[in-house]
Amino acid sequence: MSTAYAPGKSILFGEHAVVYGRPAIAAPVQQVRAEATVQPGKAGAGVFLSAPDVNWDCYLANAPKEHPLRVIVTNTLSRLQIASEPDIVVRVSSTIPMACGLGSGTAVSVSIVRGLAVYFGIPLSNEAVSELTFEVEKIYHGTPSGIDNTVITYEKPVYFVKSKTLETLAVRKPFRLAIADTGVCSPTWVAVGDVRRSWERAPHRYDSLFDEIGNISRLARQAIESGNPDELGPLMNENQRLLRAIDVSSPELETLIEAALRAGAMGAKLSGAGRGGNIIALVSESVAWQVEKVLREGGAHNVIVTEIT
Ligand code: MEV
Repeated sequence: MSTAYAPGKSILFGEHAVVYGRPAIAAPVQQVRAEATVQPGKAGAGVFLSAPDVNWDCYLANAPKEHPLRVIVTNTLSRLQIASEPDIVVRVSSTIPMACGLGSGTAVSVSIVRGLAVYFGIPLSNEAVSELTFEVEKIYHGTPSGIDNTVITYEKPVYFVKSKTLETLAVRKPFRLAIADTGVCSPTWVAVGDVRRSWERAPHRYDSLFDEIGNISRLARQAIESGNPDELGPLMNENQRLLRAIDVSSPELETLIEAALRAGAMGAKLSGAGRGGNIIALVSESVAWQVEKVLREGGAHNVIVTEIT
């Protein structure tokens, strides 16, 4: 039997604009994770897929052709050059809330790819894991940038530009983020699709908003790499203003952002596709507990305080 894990992720800067070639910054969130186990199954039965968290069990051959679990398992077996369907059980579970901007689906894919590679004793490079996962991202997200599969595969803070060589970030001075969940589930592909339609209607306006967001990611990179994380606060607030302008914020997100700022956070913004999902707030060690408390009182379903290192 083999078991593999993959962390959640948080987009710090640049979501949506990254789909249009601007830079973005993301980091893994190790407090939550997906897990895949692979073990021998019934002789002659083929691959059995099991996702008990969502009450879903199915033989691979009976799963819908486009089902993300079917696609990731099939593509990985073919990449591993396993010629005939093996008799195995692939079981997945996750502590990452679904459709909340923390990369639940992506982490499930990464853990399955790694679990299968370990089970068959065939090493796969990070690049291969990320590529295989990206194929499934296209089913979840429509036109993904590739940032989610990259940060979750490499498990390091990244400065990401679509189709460019990966750059990991050297975090000179660690900093803390409070991540708070609105409890509103919002599939990434819906927000990404809406932004695309708005961009098609008003390309100049949207391109200039994306440019501004890209500049914020560049400044944030400098702040992180030069050991001045306090500078990230105002950059987060500015990024949030632009996310509002591209219409991916929501009343629930704004309520949590306001609560975090009132409780002493240095900056706050939505994180991920928006409309629902999570906010992130930059917090010093001394106010972290206060921000966490106020966020919970303000309706957050869950709050994680994580250190970016
Ligand atoms: C989702 O985590 C981030 C988005 O920018 C989509 C993407 O980059 O694929 C909204």
